[in-house]
Amino acid sequence: MDNQQLVTLLSELTIDEKIGQLVQLSGDFFQEDEAMLVGPQKKLGINEAMIELVGSVLNVTGAEKVRQIQDNYLAKSRHKIPLMFMADIIYGYQTVYPIPLGQAASWNPELIEEGYQKIALESVAGGAHVTYAPMVDLVKDPRWGRCLESTGEDVYLNSRYAEAMVRGFQHNFDQGQGLASCVKHFAAYGAAEGGRDYNHVDMSERRLRQEYLPAYQAAVNAGSKLVMTSFNTVEGVPATGNKWLMHDVLREEWGFDGVVISDYAAVQELVTHGYAENNKEATYLAMAASNDIDMKTACYANHLAELIAEGRISMEQLDQAVWRVLCLKNDLGLFEDPYRGVSLEGENKGVFTSENRQMARNIASESMVLLKNENQVLPLKPEQKVALIGPYGDSQELMGLWAVHGRMEDVTTIKEAMSKHSPSVSYEQGCDMLEDYTFLGEFGYSQKIISGVELSPEEKEATKDGAIKLASESDVIVMALGEHTLQSGEAGSRTSLRLPLKQQELLKELAELRKPLVLLTISGRPLVLTEEVALVDGLIQAWFPGTEGGNALADILYGKINPSGRLTQSFPFNEGQIPVYYNNYSTGRPENESQHSGRFVSKYLDAPNQPLFPFGYGLSYHESSYSALQVDSETLSAENPLTVTVTVTNLAGLAGQEVVQLYVRDLYASIVQPVKLLKGFQKIQLEAGESREVSFEISEEMLRFYQQDGQFASEVGDFDIFIGRNSQDCQKIRVRLVA
Ligand code: IFM
Repeated sequence: MDNQQLVTLLSELTIDEKIGQLVQLSGDFFQEDEAMLVGPQKKLGINEAMIELVGSVLNVTGAEKVRQIQDNYLAKSRHKIPLMFMADIIYGYQTVYPIPLGQAASWNPELIEEGYQKIALESVAGGAHVTYAPMVDLVKDPRWGRCLESTGEDVYLNSRYAEAMVRGFQHNFDQGQGLASCVKHFAAYGAAEGGRDYNHVDMSERRLRQEYLPAYQAAVNAGSKLVMTSFNTVEGVPATGNKWLMHDVLREEWGFDGVVISDYAAVQELVTHGYAENNKEATYLAMAASNDIDMKTACYANHLAELIAEGRISMEQLDQAVWRVLCLKNDLGLFEDPYRGVSLEGENKGVFTSENRQMARNIASESMVLLKNENQVLPLKPEQKVALIGPYGDSQELMGLWAVHGRMEDVTTIKEAMSKHSPSVSYEQGCDMLEDYTFLGEFGYSQKIISGVELSPEEKEATKDGAIKLASESDVIVMALGEHTLQSGEAGSRTSLRLPLKQQELLKELAELRKPLVLLTISGRPLVLTEEVALVDGLIQAWFPGTEGGNALADILYGKINPSGRLTQSFPFNEGQIPVYYNNYSTGRPENESQHSGRFVSKYLDAPNQPLFPFGYGLSYHESSYSALQVDSETLSAENPLTVTVTVTNLAGLAGQEVVQLYVRDLYASIVQPVKLLKGFQKIQLEAGESREVSFEISEEMLRFYQQDGQFASEVGDFDIFIGRNSQDCQKIRVRLVA
């Protein structure tokens, strides 16, 4: 449709037809079976006429279903404006990739971008038009269950991933391919107080702009077609009704002219937040904040017309919102082909392809983080007798909570994968996943990815005895332990980040056998592994690694792949340290550099200040050295950047990858700056024994920060430049920014 046709279409719509475009409902409203309408319709309080006008659907996928719903809908539609199908395709459609926190550990945005192109192709074959992703919420608190979907605690890295993911999803979008991307959750959802989901967020505007907003902006600059609001408040105002955030910052400052959609029920929740008096006021506030689509409430459907009649929302505001939705449908090519080419045949060919599985496997390999490897316990040798023990050893629950389109039967288990490398792998579960399963009862919709089966008392005893026997007869014990799928993800906040109790106990018992012991941890967040680390020789953080994760893990265990993952969120020493993150501040009394000694410095009495494993940390099977750090000039200015160079050497007899990390510290500034800030990185491949010079340019622009008056500017003075293998293990050199 050309622009003029679209303008004409908009002008022909009645007010109700326009409002319909701004309402999004779930698939149950579009079932053919009329009886299905009674339940959800009644519950939501939306009338049938409006259902027929609704502009988009949430979380319906599958070629046949999408075609059928579109057909039924268009048959009743006066203007034949197609429905738009949106879905949560966060880290894979049917081929499930590692969770984003794992993907981030690859420090390889280029690879992730390629992966997201494949995810998009697969999802489009399954009928999706828009994905509610990427989620780019910066997170410093591992108590928050949605760490799983984030790329971690650093603003620079998150921004690189945000743009990579958007570009991947929307690859060749103008040629009719790809998924429209909806970056979320705007804004600062990852800073929910206490790590409790949906909780209040309160921080200075300066911090918001410095650390939390840039990743959303990077996604917008990369062309994200939509933005989703967040559930939380920002400076006391819920994001969905936050005019400053949505209108002033997003639309005016950043120039975003795409669609803003509220998160699920978030318009109505303006009432429960205590911000709107009732649903009508909630509608007013969300529209005034320039939120276009109301996801899954009856607020817009039931109150917008009245607000327009009263003149509180103008026709112009309504038209602008509808225009943005129509433009998106037009960009998707839906007016020409409401099915966007989707067919059962295309779906069968395009979904779960070997190419996509290979990509998922490559990304999973790069996502795994080797956290400990003593006495060269890893890699395993095929002739070693391995006792594989733990509830994750032969489990297909490796996808994590947001893999709602993945099929558990497609997942290769760790045991199956290890057995491809060695005939000497024997398995015993050893213990239950959880000591208490009662909370699983609350969770309705995702049964297909969760078994949650509890062992009987007899089975418990037998499997524990079996595990001890197997372990005592083995050369090496490999334990696959972790969080239950339902312990992380949305609404998966926890105050204890330990492994489930029964798993801890089993590990302690097996450690007493004094055999080489390797722990594989499956989790959606950084866990507190302090006690376990002391007991094991080897530790691999495997995240929820996805459909091909078992294969990737086995490749690493047997040395086919040399691990290269590095953490992007600190692993705390204990929960009391939280939030603990690398880019913190000196304070007036830093622990090791203060004039005060002993008690009166900034520290805990009962735990170190440092996390168990810091940001950027991870080992490989090769050792490396970083030497000869040098700059080509001791000063830089706005016109003249400088170059810093380090020599990285692979000291081992096998090839491997290094993530060379660049950090900067502004030593004194009108607003105190973090002790280190990531400003760049390079992932390089080094052959056995190879040495390579790695250089970074340091420009004045990289040294800017938000000043007291809101300006983003640098200040002349001294800066430390650090290069190293992680945020703690770096070499440093001092330079000066001059006017
Ligand atoms: O996309 C999600 C969001 O992340 C959390 N609430 C529901 C949305 C749609 O499923």
